[in-house]
Amino acid sequence: MNTHSLYFPSMLLFFITLLQVAAFEEGDRAALQAFKSMISHDPQGILNSWNDSRHFCEWEGITCGRRHRRVTALNMRSKALRGSLSPYIGNLSFLREINLENNTIQGEIPREFGRLLRLEALFLSNNSLAGKIPANLSSRLTVLALPYNKLVGRIPFEFVSLCKLKRLALHRNSLTGGIPPFLGNLSSLELLSLGANSFGGNIPDSLGQLKELEALGIGGNNLSGTIPHSIYNLSFIEIFSVLVVSLRCTKFKTLPLI
Ligand SMILES: *[C@@H]1O[C@H](CO)[C@@H](O)[C@H](O)[C@H]1NC(C)=O
Ligand SMILES: *[C@@H]1O[C@H](CO)[C@@H](O)[C@H](O)[C@H]1NC(C)=O
Ligand SMILES: *[C@@H]1O[C@H](CO)[C@@H](O)[C@H](O)[C@H]1NC(C)=O
Ligand SMILES: *[C@@H]1O[C@H](CO)[C@@H](O)[C@H](O)[C@H]1NC(C)=O
Ligand SMILES: *[C@@H]1O[C@H](CO)[C@@H](O)[C@H](O)[C@H]1NC(C)=O
Ligand SMILES: *[C@@H]1O[C@H](CO)[C@@H](O)[C@H](O)[C@H]1NC(C)=O
Ligand SMILES: *[C@@H]1O[C@H](CO)[C@@H](O)[C@H](O)[C@H]1NC(C)=O
Ligand SMILES: *[C@@H]1O[C@H](CO)[C@@H](O)[C@H](O)[C@H]1NC(C)=O
Repeated sequence: MNTHSLYFPSMLLFFITLLQVAAFEEGDRAALQAFKSMISHDPQGILNSWNDSRHFCEWEGITCGRRHRRVTALNMRSKALRGSLSPYIGNLSFLREINLENNTIQGEIPREFGRLLRLEALFLSNNSLAGKIPANLSSRLTVLALPYNKLVGRIPFEFVSLCKLKRLALHRNSLTGGIPPFLGNLSSLELLSLGANSFGGNIPDSLGQLKELEALGIGGNNLSGTIPHSIYNLSFIEIFSVLVVSLRCTKFKTLPLI
């Protein structure tokens, strides 16, 4: 075999890989442009920097990976943005963190967020998001923060697979149904904040299995029954104060926006 016949296939492979990389990058750019196109109001002009004069990895609020130029974080916290969320965000397959906290984003959280299989943190607190919480979210999530929105419906049963979740904050929405007993299976939970919704029923015993729990907010709902003994077994005192305050005066004790 001469060196030529070896050289040619490996060069071909190299070019195919280059083309694939370029295609993925193009997909990320298209997704970011779709995100921008659905923001109707940007008083600080943040998205002006999102233009072709620079690679999208240098656009404001964007973080890319070191080895590859793929978007790993989208951070537009407190930018006074108005608009809604593009389903194209679901194409940013390297995304690990989305932070759009404290803006005025309306509409639903696109189901396509379920395609973000590397997503670890989703911060959408204090917007005007409506509709249901998407059932299908990355099992790598450690933080899901959706408080101060207009979300309705139940806590999806599919959340039972979010076994890495440390912080689940859903307070100040219009969620209904009960506090699902399966939350007691999310053994990494450190913060569970469900206050100021329309949850009914009783407080499941299973929450007493959450050995890592440091804060539990459930006030301002329509819960009945007593505090399960299992919960008193948890070692952190904060839980008691939040619980007792919330149950005695059915007032919501504010937990930070995390
Ligand atoms: C394009 O973005 C750069 C910063 O990345 C900015 O200086 C420039 O003004 C932008 N161009 C337009 C037309 O907004
Ligand atoms: C929320 O964003 C507004 C600007 O739209 C800002 O004035 C305010 O300080 C922010 N609040 C928090 C808690 O970050
Ligand atoms: C991105 O997402 C949209 C909508 O979810 C889809 O229609 C499109 O084909 C996807 N792919 C690319 C490469 O943009
Ligand atoms: C979540 O739904 C999306 C489509 O909406 C799908 O591509 C993805 O595979 C689903 N993920 C899981 C874990 O089911
Ligand atoms: C929520 O956002 C509004 C502005 O959009 C701001 O005035 C308010 O302080 C924010 N609340 C919290 C708890 O951050
Ligand atoms: C929760 O965990 C227990 C075992 O600790 C298991 O028997 C039960 O089926 C789990 N519940 C769900 C909804 O997965
Ligand atoms: C609260 O729950 C009770 C039953 O426990 C029910 O009769 C009542 O209608 C509920 N109130 C609201 C506002 O949902
Ligand atoms: C409290 O913890 C002790 C020891 O860990 C255990 O034996 C007991 O069953 C627990 N009680 C409840 C109500 O979970």
